[in-house]
Amino acid sequence: MAGLFDPLAIRDLKFANRVFVSPMCQYSSQDGYATDWHLVHLGSRAVGGAGLIFAEATAVLPEGRISPHDLGIWDDGHIEMLSRIVRFVHEQGSVAGMQLAHAGRKASTRRPWETPGTVPENEGGWKKVVAPSALQFADNYPMPQALTLDGIQEVVSAFAAAARRACQAEFRVVEIHAAHGYLIHEFLSPLSNKREDDYGGSFENRTRLCREIVAAVRSAWPKELPLFVRISSTDWIDGGWDIEQSIKLAGQLKQVGVDLIDCSSGGNVAHAKIPVGPGYQTAFAQKIRREAKIMTGAVGMITSPVQAEHVIRTGQADAVIIAREFLRDPYWPLRAARELEQPIAWPVQYLRAAPKGAQPRVPVDLKSFESCFEEQHGVPERRGVRKQSEVRGEEPEKSSSKRPTPNVQHPIEEVEKGAAR
Ligand SMILES: Cc1cc2nc3c(=O)[nH]c(=O)nc-3n(C[C@H](O)[C@H](O)[C@H](O)COP(=O)(O)O)c2cc1C
Repeated sequence: MAGLFDPLAIRDLKFANRVFVSPMCQYSSQDGYATDWHLVHLGSRAVGGAGLIFAEATAVLPEGRISPHDLGIWDDGHIEMLSRIVRFVHEQGSVAGMQLAHAGRKASTRRPWETPGTVPENEGGWKKVVAPSALQFADNYPMPQALTLDGIQEVVSAFAAAARRACQAEFRVVEIHAAHGYLIHEFLSPLSNKREDDYGGSFENRTRLCREIVAAVRSAWPKELPLFVRISSTDWIDGGWDIEQSIKLAGQLKQVGVDLIDCSSGGNVAHAKIPVGPGYQTAFAQKIRREAKIMTGAVGMITSPVQAEHVIRTGQADAVIIAREFLRDPYWPLRAARELEQPIAWPVQYLRAAPKGAQPRVPVDLKSFESCFEEQHGVPERRGVRKQSEVRGEEPEKSSSKRPTPNVQHPIEEVEKGAAR
């Protein structure tokens, strides 16, 4: 059985190790643009040596942002700063991944460190908050409009267009965010999906949007590169989405080209009771891996090197996906490798501090994927697609000069209550 610091190959890509940085919203963008904060935040974790670094939930449409400050990829203008960040991450030998997201009925809300609630239009919020059905997440959340069939197709196309932009920015993994009570999860769960058309009711109908998005993204994303899906393995409520449905969906997604299921939970029901504790979601990764025969990532309160090594060595998951512990220690992999007495490459600039015999980093070998720049048929574009030479060229800086509000309070309690973003 492989260990935490053994490489992992998926399609044509090889991860240097099985320690992945979980997507974490930074709420530090204006109009969806990445900033210097993202470069330093993601760049630090690359210096730390993670095998894969996910950028936060990145909105495929402006109305699909959780807050007005979310990262976005609905416009070609977003590509330039993202590609600068990605280049840095790859130079450090970490693979850069993007999580594609639509917040559904949890859109147009405040950042976790602000007073919770809906952001009104005069403060940068928006009216077009959509969901499978007109059901609020909670009293202080927006009342969503039920998506029309045209609206559903627009969302599917937006995911595909976003995947192509992610490829143009040279991300090498995309993950579709189908968890935490956001749009795709809202369709999956009978608690938030009360539709009576082809997208509601039976398991096949509730999972249709997810399968359509996966198929559209898979056809826009190079076949040589991995595609992950993050799900909430259970709603933690009787009569909701559960592990048995997750296993069935995972098996179907494998057939349409998904390589790994990132197994989270909760987020769709405000009053769900979640038994939070060390490794509390790992059993879902194990069960889905065993029964759907697909690679999985375990996430949720994995903090110690021995715990992470145990998850991999015992075959519970193919990778551990760590969030908050990476905020406490961006160099977690360097520390863990030392504790477990495993080899890990160090940045050449830091070799004088490394254990004896440590090797310098090898950049990720970047093949160019021209298919990302080809005209797509059947997936309408919202904007023209730029050529690779233009993306890489010396264009004027488009990222906003407006500074995000400083983080004054760490929003951990929300994650611990299971309302993970
Ligand atoms: C600051 C912060 C932001 C988060 N943003 C996202 C996100 O963008 N997408 C997502 O799927 N999960 C998000 N999450 C949830 C984490 O990815 C992870 O699933 C959760 O924190 C449990 O892992 P942990 O115990 O290692 O922190 C966020 C968590 C935190 C703490």
